[in-house]
Amino acid sequence: MKRIVVVGTQWGDEGKGKITDYLAQRADVVCRYQGGNNAGHTVVFNGQKHSLHLLPSGILNPDILNVMANGMVINPKAFVEEASKIKTPFKLAISNRAHVVLPFHSELDKAYESTKAHKIGTTHKGIGPAYTDKSARIGMRVSTFIHPIRFKEKLEELVLLKNEELLSYGFNLLDSKAIYDEYLIYAKEMKPYVCDTSIVLNEAINEDKKILFEGAQGVLLCLDHGTYPYVTSSSPTASSVPLNTGIAPWLVDGAIGVTKAYTTRVGEGPMPSEILGELASNIRIKGNEFGTTTGRPRRIGWLDTVILKHTKRVSGLSYLAVTLLDVLSGIDELNIVTSYQFEGEEIDYIPAEIDDFAACKPNIIKMPGWTEDITQVTSFDELPKHAKAYLKKLEELVGVPIAIFSVGPDRNQTIMVKDIF
Ligand code: IMP
Repeated sequence: MKRIVVVGTQWGDEGKGKITDYLAQRADVVCRYQGGNNAGHTVVFNGQKHSLHLLPSGILNPDILNVMANGMVINPKAFVEEASKIKTPFKLAISNRAHVVLPFHSELDKAYESTKAHKIGTTHKGIGPAYTDKSARIGMRVSTFIHPIRFKEKLEELVLLKNEELLSYGFNLLDSKAIYDEYLIYAKEMKPYVCDTSIVLNEAINEDKKILFEGAQGVLLCLDHGTYPYVTSSSPTASSVPLNTGIAPWLVDGAIGVTKAYTTRVGEGPMPSEILGELASNIRIKGNEFGTTTGRPRRIGWLDTVILKHTKRVSGLSYLAVTLLDVLSGIDELNIVTSYQFEGEEIDYIPAEIDDFAACKPNIIKMPGWTEDITQVTSFDELPKHAKAYLKKLEELVGVPIAIFSVGPDRNQTIMVKDIF
């Protein structure tokens, strides 16, 4: 496959950054296609940890062209801060059609959350309000942002509108002049990278270049196919790539679904596979399950194959990449969720109504665990018998072959079982 999508199959944080970084070694282009700095991708290379929020995961490789496509919402301040931390040369193209996240978006994100009886648990980064403005056709595109006069006019108009709203929530009013003075500096820093990235991507395709499309979040957080309303405001599915980048659907060759060997979730909403108590806290500590963006402890659950089958259906998955397998070492017995019990029936899909999903009880199968440390394993054959059986069962239940598994945070602890890219 020459053009593949790296998709999160669960509720985000599956290790997409690590898998993208690994596959990026063979890529010419890495393209982020949705979300903003609500995402947090951790890439560990030679023992050094890099936290990326907005920048594509190929940014640490000076030979790769990184693209931030039109489907993204970009916070210019966060962009400039993040880019300044990259000390090696990089190649970057930012879409002139991406939307800009401005200070009132994050304020409104907090305001909306503060009055909700059932909070979503957003990252407060203003992602929902920025996408809302895009849909309402009042948002600011990057092309406007980098044009000083148009930026000023549009900003004044928006601040007037947003201050009325902020006032109604009892929030402080914003000063458009102060925002303008600060953000004009960011606009100047962004400008050299801005272009029509659809043209860039289509040219790369015409030149037969290898492209990795990097999703943020996971399919269960998709605005359309996720566990609504506990979702983000964009679509991480592989099917959203053409729209969010400006390429034809048939130019995408396939998708690799990244799944943890168990399940995690940050924020609110039902999670049928959830584990509580000591085992959950042991897994949380061993897997370092704390949000890269907000530092929040992640909720922990068993591997849930109903979720993976849902992702396979709504997004398309050619292969799986299983991460954090090493975290399960030392657990006597492992559970895998195979279906749900709902209103007296066994189902293997996710109900659309969130209260129905909350009422689902997991049906599980039990698998024997393994005690060996697997962090130095370099091939499937070297895995302990029970770890092999666990991966085989996962493949069988979901019906998607595993191409990659990983046994630790470093790039070198990633094992490719099938050569897919
Ligand atoms: P928002 O994207 O900030 O609007 O948050 C909506 C929901 O998506 C919340 O439950 C967040 O915790 C979750 N979320 C957003 N980005 C990520 C991510 O990168 N990983 C995991 N969860 C995320």
